[in-house]
Amino acid sequence: MRIAMIGTGYVGLVSGACFADFGFDVICVDIDAGKIARLVDGDIPIFEPGLDHVVEAGRRAERLAFTTDLEGAVSSADAVFLAVGTPTDPATGRADLRYVEAAARSIGKALTGYTVIVDKSTVPVGTAKRVEGWIREANPTATFDVVSNPEFLREGAAVQDFQNPDRVVIGLESDRARDVMSAIYQPLANRDIPILFTGRETAEVIKYAGNAFLALKIGFINEVADLCEAVGADVLEVADGIGLDSRIGPKFLRPGPGYGGSCFPKDTLALVRTGEDAGAPQSIVDSVIRSNAARKRGMGDKIASALGGTLAGRTVGLLGLTFKANTDDMRESPAVDIVSRLLELGAVVRAYDPQGMEEAAHLLDSVEYCRDSYDAADGADVVAIVTEWSEFAALDLERLRDCMRSPHMVDLRNLIDPARARAAGLNYMGIGRVI
Ligand code: UDX
Repeated sequence: MRIAMIGTGYVGLVSGACFADFGFDVICVDIDAGKIARLVDGDIPIFEPGLDHVVEAGRRAERLAFTTDLEGAVSSADAVFLAVGTPTDPATGRADLRYVEAAARSIGKALTGYTVIVDKSTVPVGTAKRVEGWIREANPTATFDVVSNPEFLREGAAVQDFQNPDRVVIGLESDRARDVMSAIYQPLANRDIPILFTGRETAEVIKYAGNAFLALKIGFINEVADLCEAVGADVLEVADGIGLDSRIGPKFLRPGPGYGGSCFPKDTLALVRTGEDAGAPQSIVDSVIRSNAARKRGMGDKIASALGGTLAGRTVGLLGLTFKANTDDMRESPAVDIVSRLLELGAVVRAYDPQGMEEAAHLLDSVEYCRDSYDAADGADVVAIVTEWSEFAALDLERLRDCMRSPHMVDLRNLIDPARARAAGLNYMGIGRVI
């Protein structure tokens, strides 16, 4: 089995490397020659735990290669995966399919012999059919099938998620394509991981509905956290109390500063637009989007509230900038909204993130970037934890307090034990807990 992977972003690179790890010959293609040159040199362009080992193993076994030559890769492949970006079109909120279309047309021209084209990018319902049309236009005599195979991996746990998914979803319409896809996922089927075959539109809806449901859980617990603060309840105990109901489940009930990242914001918006287009309004998801946007903005005010609501001339030490821990990804990170609000309120912002500062510097230029957490706390009136990096949980809180001008801590991830913070002389405020 020979696989071509078009696009070497998070999904493409992780999927390509893991397919090589399954034992297939994989060639990863990207139009970004600089990125391919780095990969050829063994340099991984993104921070993703464990990915370097899988890529290196694949390269050493000569099962994983990188190229800009799409035609060469596609013409010798049995399956071609599309893992190019589908960013939000800022004018419409819909997914912008220009990269998918360009790749589909190039693939069409390069096809020789029966090939399965697999959509791995998150795309609006109906895209598999459109991809089929673009390929057919580019090459009217080609023999191929287009399959939808959405990816559910999380950044920061991408390799682990790819190798141990809860399920694999494959939307297709032909037995020939089913044989190829079954062979590709046989290593997972052998470990009793459920492989769900559906129609193509169904697979496309599963991806959006899955992400939207998870976003909804987070939006829900965040509003419950506000309620807990208002009435003197503890949201962590509430999350345990409802999560133990097996119909609800304990996951994705961690309150925080609002969800961010490359998927939830984009996919919830795209689902709402798809619903509008189809005449099936997704009003619940629409309200989750608005609730999350308000929450991200409100977190700056929450930090200000630790100092009585005024930040003019005050310094805020911000710990964490990325949208979650174990990634360098800043896309849609709550930190961006928080920093804008803090600056609007007149604060000086000193920030530290273990991996995200290079990316953050492109987005936030009025921030003082610091060496470490203690440097960010230096002279601060309040320290706020924005991302749940484990190194923040292990901070020496007395040392941190000694760096600060006044000892206030706002923990937007409930990462620190409040009793430990208090024992270190910090005025501590978490999320959804009155302590
Ligand atoms: C998500 C989906 O989990 C994954 O299946 C899909 O393929 C891509 O989108 P990812 O964006 O990498 O993955 O991160 P995830 O761990 O799901 O977190 C998304 C956001 O929700 C982050 O901002 C995170 O901080 C937030 N979150 C998550 C919470 O605030 N509380 C939670 O309980 C869980």
